[in-house]
Amino acid sequence: MSSGRKAGRRAILQAWFAAGVMGVAGTTLAQGRSRATELEITPSCGNDEAPTRPQTEGPFYSAGPPAKTDFRSDAPGEPMVLLGFVLGTDCRPIEGARVDLWHADADGRYDNRSFRLRGWQASDARGRFGFETIVPGLYPGRTRHFHVKVQRPGGPVLTTQLYFPDEPGNRRDFIFDARLLMEVRRVNGARIGRFDFIIG
Ligand SMILES: [Fe+2]
Repeated sequence: MSSGRKAGRRAILQAWFAAGVMGVAGTTLAQGRSRATELEITPSCGNDEAPTRPQTEGPFYSAGPPAKTDFRSDAPGEPMVLLGFVLGTDCRPIEGARVDLWHADADGRYDNRSFRLRGWQASDARGRFGFETIVPGLYPGRTRHFHVKVQRPGGPVLTTQLYFPDEPGNRRDFIFDARLLMEVRRVNGARIGRFDFIIG
């Protein structure tokens, strides 16, 4: 892993959290990338959105994960940034929402003894969150996925899963739900997954 690529991912997250109107699009354009790599820095939703669909927690959640946004030292794998907004059904950003992420390593294994590839963060004043991690591996019976819990301060917990577009296993996984597909792009050698949560 080159330090340049690591710096690129860091720049993407820094741009994501920066308040400037250029945001992530500005970063990628400044580095000579095509417009196809731009990420929308504003949420695309109306004023009466359906809440994000819940899904099963699965057998591998561990209570009490640490506050952590960078999982890259937890396990080797293809780098990935997962980012997005936490919004209410009125499309307003939710500050301080807890976004709890856990997923398999590149070999499809969960760490059930410690908190590798597990952690949570609070959304910022504009409802944004962003993790630096790796692409989860496959394990028998499931397509590629992230597990998440999202909770506004004092609110109910949304437990769900996020999926990758164009993943062959999506068609065979009976838990898969196309409404939970991330928008995934490749920027600076990393996959960037975008998903905006709508919570009640
Ligand atoms: Fe899983």
